[in-house]
Order: sequence, then C-alpha cells, then structure tokens
Amino acid sequence: MNRRRFHIFAALLLLALASISVQAQAGPPPILLGTAWYPEQWPESRWETDLTLMQQAGVHMVRVGEFAWSRMEPSEGQYDLDWLDRAITAAAKHGIYTVVGTPTAAPPAWLTQKYPETLRIDEEGHRAEHGNRQQFNFANPKYRELARKIAEQMAKRFGHNPYVLGWQIDNEYAEESYDPDTRAQFQQWLKTRYGTLDNLNARWTTPYWSQTYSDWDQIPIETKYGNPGLLLSWKRFVSDTWRSYQKNQLQVIRANCDPRQFITTNTMGWFDGFDHYTVEQDLDLAAWDDYVGSGHLDPASNGAAHDLTRGFLRKNFWVMETQPGFVNWHKVNNSLDKGEVRAMAWHAIGHGADTVSYWQWRSALNGQEQYHGTLLGADGTPVPLYSEVQQIGRGFQKAGPALAGTSVKSQVAILHSYDSRWAINWQRHNQNYDPVKEIVSYYKPLRAIAQSIDVIAPTAPLSQYQLVVAPGLNVLSEAAAKNLAEYVRAGGHLVLGQRSGMKNDDNGLQTERQPGPLADLLGGRVEQYYALIDPVPVEGKFGAGSSKLWAELLSAKASDAEVLERYGKSNGWLDGQPAAITRKVGKGRITYIGVWLDDAGMQSAAKWMTEISGVKPALGDVPEGVEVYPRHAKDHVVYILVNFSKAEQRVPLPAQMEDVLNGRSVNAVALPQYGVAVLTTKR
Ligand code: GLA
Repeated sequence: MNRRRFHIFAALLLLALASISVQAQAGPPPILLGTAWYPEQWPESRWETDLTLMQQAGVHMVRVGEFAWSRMEPSEGQYDLDWLDRAITAAAKHGIYTVVGTPTAAPPAWLTQKYPETLRIDEEGHRAEHGNRQQFNFANPKYRELARKIAEQMAKRFGHNPYVLGWQIDNEYAEESYDPDTRAQFQQWLKTRYGTLDNLNARWTTPYWSQTYSDWDQIPIETKYGNPGLLLSWKRFVSDTWRSYQKNQLQVIRANCDPRQFITTNTMGWFDGFDHYTVEQDLDLAAWDDYVGSGHLDPASNGAAHDLTRGFLRKNFWVMETQPGFVNWHKVNNSLDKGEVRAMAWHAIGHGADTVSYWQWRSALNGQEQYHGTLLGADGTPVPLYSEVQQIGRGFQKAGPALAGTSVKSQVAILHSYDSRWAINWQRHNQNYDPVKEIVSYYKPLRAIAQSIDVIAPTAPLSQYQLVVAPGLNVLSEAAAKNLAEYVRAGGHLVLGQRSGMKNDDNGLQTERQPGPLADLLGGRVEQYYALIDPVPVEGKFGAGSSKLWAELLSAKASDAEVLERYGKSNGWLDGQPAAITRKVGKGRITYIGVWLDDAGMQSAAKWMTEISGVKPALGDVPEGVEVYPRHAKDHVVYILVNFSKAEQRVPLPAQMEDVLNGRSVNAVALPQYGVAVLTTKR
C-alpha cells in the first residue's frame, strides 16, 4: 500500500470507528426490532449482506451464540471467541446491537463423550444422546463447571463491549434429569426444607398407603401419581435447581460485565415445568418466546401470557423470539395472515414488551428446523413477510420516542400460582378442567372492560389494585392468605374463583373448608364440590346461564354475606343452593364464585366486579374486536390500538391525540383488520 492510499484507508477506518462509537453513545432505540442470527452457520463473507438486509428492515438487535458451543470451544479449554467478536463488531457497523446467549442448551459432542454423566436421564431411565439439544443434566456438577467456564470466557470477552446490550442464559429451560445423583440432591433438599423425617411424614400424611419414611434415601422422585406433598416438593426442587443452574452462569457474567448489560433467559409463556417466580427473581429482565403455533393469534390468551411474563419482575419485558409467519413444530403450521404479524408485534408492545425479535433470520441449510418461518429464504433473499417486518421496523422507529420510559399500569390484577396449577393438574377431578383456561376465562372479559390487567403471584404487593381476582388459587400458603386478607381489610376488592383455598403449602387439604384461611373473612364456605358431566343452570346477579365442568355448593353463614347466584335444578344437591357469595368488609369486599360461568355470565360477572370496585376502562368504549393497550409515563399516556375484527372499525377518541405513526393530530381513527394506531396524549 503506498502512502497516499494508506492515509485514505486510515481516514476511512477512523470514520467508520467514529460512526460506530457515535451510535454506541446514542444507545439503542427504546423499542427494538430484533432477530435471531446464527453467524456460525454461514461463511463470514456472507455476514455483510445479512447485516445490510437487517439494517434495511429496521433491525437494531441480534441475539447470537445460544447454540454455538462447539464453535466457541472446539475442544476442552480451547476457546475461540474471535469470530463472535467480529460478528458483534460487524453488526454494530449497521447500528445493530447484540444480545449474547450462553450456549449451554447445546453441549458439544466432545463434552458429552468425555463426560457422559453430564447427559440427562429421562423418567424411563434412558440416557439422552448427542444430536439434538437440551441433552444435559441440569443438576450435574461437571456440567455446571464446564458451563460456568464458557460463560466466564464469554463475559470476560464481551462484558464491556458497548454493542452488547445483555445476556441470555441458556435457552428455554425445560428438561429435568432423573438420575441417582439428582435424586440424592432432591433428598438433601427435602432434608433442608423439612428438617426431620417426622416433620416430613406428618406434613405428607405418609401413614397413608404405608408411605412412612425412616431414611431420607428411601424417598423417590414422583411426577404424576405420587403423594401430593412429594409431587409439589419435586417441582419446587426442580425450580430451585433451575435457579441454581442459572446462578452458576449468572454469577460469572455479573462479575465480568458492565452493570448496564442485562441478564435474562427466555421462557415459554404458560409452560409450567418450574416455578418462574423462583427462577426469575435473580434476573434483570423477563423475556419469552411467543409462538402461536397453529391457527391465529388469540389476543386474550396470548395477551394473558404477555402479562404473565411482565408479572415475573413486574416491569417491561422482551419478546425474545416470535414467529415470522409460521413455525415448524405444530400439527398444521399455517402462516399468520398478511398484516397479522404486524398486529401481533404491536399487541406485544402494548402489553409492555420493549423488544420483538423474530426467530429466525434465515434457516440453517441442514438443521432440524428447515421448514420454520424466516425473514430470508434459503437463497439468502427476502421472503414476502420481510416487507411487513420492515413496516414494523419503521413503526418502532417512529413510536420509540413516545414509548420511551412508558410502562403498563393496571387497576386489576389476576393472581397466578404454579403451585395451584400443578395441584389442580395432578388431580383435575374433571379431565377437562384446565387451570390456564380458567384464568383466561376471567382475564378475557375483565380485560375487555379494564383494557389492562396485571398477572402476578399471590404474594405480590396488591395495594395499587382496585380489584384482585384469584381464579383457581387452589394452594393457599399462609403468606398468600395473609396478603389477601390484608388487601381486603385495607379496602381492596378480592374475588376468589373455583377451587380456591383448598390446599395448604404442602399440597395437603386445609382443615377448614374452602377458602380455608379466608373462610371467616368471607363469612361463608364451600360445602361441597361437584365435577360436572353436563352444565348446570345458575341464576342471579350475573343473569341466567350455566356452569360447566365444576360446581361448588356454597353457604353464606355470616348475616351480612350476600348470595349473588343460585343453582337451578340439577343434581338435587345443588338445586336452589348458593353458587356465588359476597361480603363487604369495611370499604373492601370479598367474593367467592363457585361456578365456571358461560361466556355471557362471565361478561356480566366481570361487569359487576369492575363496577363494584370502581374500575374504569383505560381509554373508554371501543368497538368489539378492537384492543386497547395503554402505556404510561409521568407526563403522558400512549394508547396502542389494534383491530382484530374482520371489519374496519372507527374508534372515536375521548380527546385529541397525536397519531404517532402518521404524524398528525386526531380525534378518531379508522382501523382495517389488523390495523394499528399508536396514539399519545400531549407530551
Ligand atoms: C424455540 C427455540 C428456538 C427455535 C424455536 C422454533 O423457541 O428457542 O431455538 O427452536 O423454538 O419455533
């Protein structure tokens, strides 16, 4: 290179570096469009084309690395992170920030060959093999040692990189191991929890079927038909084990990274393999992978899953993965309609997501997921959906300033507990009784009225809510009962749904009838429960309708307890008996609904609950099918509106607002099917 050329080259290089550093100083946009990118699967010469296409789509975040262990550590202790460093720098040049995934969901072949004990053993006793993913044993010390080492190498290398926003530990924790060492750890865990075998035997009522233990080593692992105390303990052990599995990596990352870098993991919506409240408490950010699978977006159940994820840390969250049109793992992997992917993205932002990231950018040519939706085809050029994602990118860019610093604030909370879901699922008593469907049956009509709902744990702070609804709070710990009673006594409105307050913290039956420790406050109780083959008629405050699947015969003992609903003629036991009761407690109120109401009944129950507790719609009335998502800042509110009905809808607004996507002031908006509006009050 001659002198002149060298000077030009040096100047260009400086310019490029300066522009990257200006971008890093400016920081990432408030609302991020992202994609999962696997640079290790492609020749480096291709990266530039990919990143240019990403930039043109408005992508500002790539998640990388989460399955690339064999590339990062090709043999034990030989680390190669240079390529990843180059990928992060290459992305930064396009204004794209990176989230680095630790690769521990996919151990390399050398690792499991050398240390076969790191492979998990399934419930039938089979040891997993290499060739798929998640074949590791989450409780194995050797695996944890190797996982910690790779995470530490990565954190040392990228912990201060200005283009790295944060970390994803592992990927979708899911698979447990049933090997003898894990069982011994479980027994040790039980010893710590229960102290003595006498205590454990008493709390699990082990004289039943001669289950009494005289040695900790006798205690088995049970996941389906065991003693209810044993079943719940195993799930809690699994939750604690995922927590310590995560901590193992989290500690070395935190020790080596800037505090501005977040640490998260990606969960799976309603998946109940472990208690997410246990595992998430150590993280900075909650994130989930939002897949419709087959069919179309159901805004209620999907929205409830967003709210569930937001409730883990009670703040904004990320959609770390979502489908670019379709998946490859369902029975029929239909595509979402044209426009639906965009509607789904704004539905996520509305529920409090600050990032929506598509899985994945381009299919590995020979990986297991060749048919999954992508943004590029196998030929490396955009698929039809790419332009819709581009539109999402433009929208995020425009709405970012208004959405910056906003979060979701709700007047209504729905309580969700893994203990209760597990307890019901182990003994459904009516095979169609699905505790998630029960939650959504309340969520849907309540959301339509309030236009915003929090889904939180029963021990979360409640004082901010006007209405708290607990469908199926089957396991009621002392701490949760105290939290709920205090809420009511302080003037809150609590509604308990079917099967609430039946079990104690050991999954044993409460010695008071439902709702157990809350029965006195309610001034009434459940006399008997009945699984139903056919719906039974109910009538009262919520109109005339029916209860399906389950019916609870209530009694109102206190003179000020009021009967809201009664059963019609059915099995004789229920005929004419109370089906829902309520009691005023100071300025507050406690209500028990012993029926699984039909849709119309549920709607009028939701209306009653919100009226009596003073809950108002966040924006005001909107046409059916239009969803409203408010996000609040100190000085303004952003309302995102999405039309999920087939017809075009006109939505009059209660005040003049700025239409952020179209840059004008409006007092009404017209939305076609899947149409989106982002409206902000004065800032
Ligand atoms: C999960 C995984 C991804 C990918 C997608 C496909 O969410 O995290 O690696 O397999 O499913 O839908």
